[in-house]
Amino acid sequence: MGIEMSTRSTDRIESDSLEHVMALDQEYVMGTYARQPVMFVRGEGTRLWDSEGREYLDFLSGIAVVGAGHCHPKVADAIAEQAHQLMHVSNLYHNPLQAKLAQRLCELAEMDKVFFCNSGAEANEAALKIARKWGKQMRGAECFEIITFTGSFHGRTMGTVTATAQPKYQAPFEPLVPGFHYAPLNDLEALDELISEKTCAVMIEPLQGESGVNPATQEFLAGVRALCDEAEVLLILDEIQCGMGRTGHFLASQGIGVQGDIVTMAKGIADGFPMGACLARGTAANTLVPGDHGSTFAGQPLACAAALATLDVMEEEELMERAAEVGCHFKTRLKSLQAALPDLIKEVRGRGLMIGMQLSTLDAKAVQRHLMDAGIVINATSDSVLRFVPPLVVTKEECDRVTDAIHQALLTL
Ligand SMILES: Cc1ncc(COP(=O)(O)O)c(C=O)c1O
Repeated sequence: MGIEMSTRSTDRIESDSLEHVMALDQEYVMGTYARQPVMFVRGEGTRLWDSEGREYLDFLSGIAVVGAGHCHPKVADAIAEQAHQLMHVSNLYHNPLQAKLAQRLCELAEMDKVFFCNSGAEANEAALKIARKWGKQMRGAECFEIITFTGSFHGRTMGTVTATAQPKYQAPFEPLVPGFHYAPLNDLEALDELISEKTCAVMIEPLQGESGVNPATQEFLAGVRALCDEAEVLLILDEIQCGMGRTGHFLASQGIGVQGDIVTMAKGIADGFPMGACLARGTAANTLVPGDHGSTFAGQPLACAAALATLDVMEEEELMERAAEVGCHFKTRLKSLQAALPDLIKEVRGRGLMIGMQLSTLDAKAVQRHLMDAGIVINATSDSVLRFVPPLVVTKEECDRVTDAIHQALLTL
């Protein structure tokens, strides 16, 4: 027995080597991701460890997912306890954790009701379905058009990839879903021209993530709200990346002072456990009825336990306040770096702990690789933009370390 076990554990180490896993991936996993040759096997707070035992400082956090940090003990314990009690129950039955989580999310997001799901794309898909049904009910069968913005990212399902106004994500999958129009970001006049009797909703990320941390201005978002009110169309706020406290407010839109009719969340909602939520208020909150929409795994006890624990941590450790304070420190440091290297850094932008750095000439992916070699995980959203979305438990000292490493990288490359 002892010999068997030790043989098995040796096998496991060999079969888990990076080279072996890369070979398996190459052979059996569809090639949808351009993976870097690193395999993380453990996480704690802001730290990750790879299969070679090397430690990394994580300034990507999934991609804006583990806000409370990797494997927060409270979240891990909540998942483990719930796993021993009841992992799954059908949505045909009541679920106390789901009901409690719905109440807390609605209070925090200032919304009336929530539909749970398992990802960001699903949360947006629910929002699109609510908007279409709402439009038809309010103004008839022709009212089904939705306006989104250039540079947006809303997901990969057919509905959400159509909402994602970036041809590179859409072209291979055409024909797309009918009824979508795209307006330039921060151009109110262009939006005004696109809104018509057929429009049921306008959908926007208050702070675009995937296209390189591009903020909608306060003035623009307030203007979008006013245009939606005037035309009586729904405003859908995609807070999947910028929500959950990341900008220093529960929702980025709350920090800007604009309220949506529908808000979508996912990513950080359960600190890494898959979950999405589509929240709505007013008539939009009561549009869907039994049979309209659903999902087998949505709002299951495990995910709800993880999300409730994440919200507890967020309150107890004052993560929103921390995101605002530490984010401000980080942005100030990065802006000082920009002042010191004006030819290399074009812009530093973002809110709270969602920050982008636009480079002038250097390849952002090369900077990303340089930092990886220095034990720091960041991400390049394009050839010219570095994105920083660390766990919200990050410290000012860790931000200083990353700033110094970028400085070093920019001077070296
Ligand atoms: C703003 C935004 N919306 C939607 C999505 C899609 O979320 P998911 O990948 O969980 O489907 C993302 C993912 O990056 C996102 O950043």
